[in-house]
Amino acid sequence: MTITLTIDGQEIIVEPGKTLLEVARENGKEIPTICFHEATTANALCRICVVEVEGMRVLQPACIVQVANNMKVQTRSEKVIRARKTILEMLASTMDLSEAADIQAMMTEYGVDVNRFPDAERREVAVKDDNPMYVRDYSKCLLCWRCVQVCADDAQYTYAINFEGRGYETQIGTFFDRSIPETTCVLCGQCVGVCPTGALKPKREFLLEQGMSPQEISVLNTGRKRRKTQPPGPSLQGKGRE
Ligand code: SF4
Ligand code: FES
Repeated sequence: MTITLTIDGQEIIVEPGKTLLEVARENGKEIPTICFHEATTANALCRICVVEVEGMRVLQPACIVQVANNMKVQTRSEKVIRARKTILEMLASTMDLSEAADIQAMMTEYGVDVNRFPDAERREVAVKDDNPMYVRDYSKCLLCWRCVQVCADDAQYTYAINFEGRGYETQIGTFFDRSIPETTCVLCGQCVGVCPTGALKPKREFLLEQGMSPQEISVLNTGRKRRKTQPPGPSLQGKGRE
């Protein structure tokens, strides 16, 4: 059985079970994504991928909505462009996107006004530097949930981090706000690898940005790894000559 739908006026025939995002991309139609990552389960949290589907009251997130027979989809209608632009303007008003290169490119493409919401409360929290592998700067976190997913069922099964708080206070955290070494974290670095904004950063990169030289970092690491000095054992000098 196949499904026939149109995307931006182009008739497409596909197998059922695919998402609108998959089918659009397979047919050369780019839909922007932020929370979606090939390696993680899509949860439609950011809504930047919304498209207009004829007959549906609200815009649909392409990363989770599956294709259906006779669907008529618009990926760049006026309503879609306006929604994406507003989402980007809200993000720009509330968090630090200075290291989110992909999102910055989207902001340029959609002609975002970064001052559209001047009274928005910004997420400003101190950098958490509590382990040897990575730092967490949640001023740059847009709550995409990718890090939580790879830490859990999508990859590592360690469940060291999760959402905490509610509404505007929602943030990524550890249980009981424990430091990373006190959690189940195994320092695998998968969360750092999927973070789209630089909120999670390798410690070495962070220290270089802070002005430390590679030599100073090396000394720091060597000092950390150095094993306790063993008490001198019996001298082997002269052994074997007896
Ligand atoms: S820390 Fe990074 S990966 Fe985790 S939710 Fe925030 S932006 Fe997403
Ligand atoms: S990419 Fe689809 S909702 Fe975020």
